[in-house]
Amino acid sequence: MTENSPATENTKTVLTGLQPTGVLTIGNYIGAIRNMLEYQKEHKCYYFVADLHSLTVDIEPAVLRKNTLDVYALLLAFGVNPEKSTFFVQSHVSAHAELTWILNCHTQFGEAKRMTQFKDKSKKSPQNVNVGLFDYPVLMAADILLYQPDYVPVGKDQNQHLEIARTIAERFNNKYSPTFTVPEGINPKYGAKVASLSDPTAKMSKSDENKNGSIFLLDTKDEIMRKFKRAVTDSGNEIVYNQTEKPGISNLLTIYSCLSGKSVKEAEKEFSGSSYAQFKDAVGQTVCDFLLPVQQEYARICKEKDYLSSLMRNGAEEAARTAYRTLSKVYRKVGLLSR
Ligand code: TYM
Repeated sequence: MTENSPATENTKTVLTGLQPTGVLTIGNYIGAIRNMLEYQKEHKCYYFVADLHSLTVDIEPAVLRKNTLDVYALLLAFGVNPEKSTFFVQSHVSAHAELTWILNCHTQFGEAKRMTQFKDKSKKSPQNVNVGLFDYPVLMAADILLYQPDYVPVGKDQNQHLEIARTIAERFNNKYSPTFTVPEGINPKYGAKVASLSDPTAKMSKSDENKNGSIFLLDTKDEIMRKFKRAVTDSGNEIVYNQTEKPGISNLLTIYSCLSGKSVKEAEKEFSGSSYAQFKDAVGQTVCDFLLPVQQEYARICKEKDYLSSLMRNGAEEAARTAYRTLSKVYRKVGLLSR
């Protein structure tokens, strides 16, 4: 796992996806979307909404449909540019599901069982430990390996899934012959794990039942200000970055720094002498100012249903060309007869 964008002179292939299980959070923005926008400037990028992954949790069909459109539109509003990047919905390219089967047969049960996200999610929803949840990392490996990316920008919570994708790719390449690029995961230097505002030791998550811990990208100004006001802070009264002693304040400093473009050091200086309440208010205000234009653009895009559908269709067609090239190579190598 590498931190931040490695400097390269040549164009690389970059891929990442986001699940439409709920409304995206500023954790998703800081951990992944920021890097997506950066990479898009110079590299060949594949970005997608991972709707198949969302079926591993109990989700109403109407909610899944709405969330998928919302995530797609929000990413456009942030600046994902379909003229530069191949931008699509995962289930529109059936090669993802097809490669998953082949990779399932090259993944050990024990490897999948070790995934901490599987263990955590099983504990959280013991009534729905479905086989899809167990197979989630293999579907993710298929998402990645179909497009031969060099880099996969993700937050820290996805690092273990990235590792298993690399293991599967290496195993396949060694067993047959070089087929897959072995990708490198990229975490942002700051904000690879934005914490919940209610519990600074836990990840901010779009599926958290406690909605006060997460800032959703479509929250209103009042909701955002209220959540920051209630954010859990630490003992003492100094605004300094110290992950172990002051996880709450450090989290707020990270959010402030990532959205204001100022360094953490600059932020510490700016708020030296301020009270926690003043600081939380300033962070809330910065988040609101940052999100407002994105939310306006999102609202505008959402009205253009036909435009959205045509972008999705074009994106899927473009993605499918690359995906099926890899898939047919894989089918041939494992010994499946061609049609
Ligand atoms: P998902 O939808 O949970 O999150 C999308 C991206 O946001 C990052 N992220 C965070 N980063 C920092 N702090 C947080 N609190 C935070 N919460 C989420 C995630 O690490 C991720 O980069 N399985 C993936 C989606 C996926 C995927 C892929 C990603 C499916 N196939 C292939 C990369 C490549 C997921 O559930 O992300």
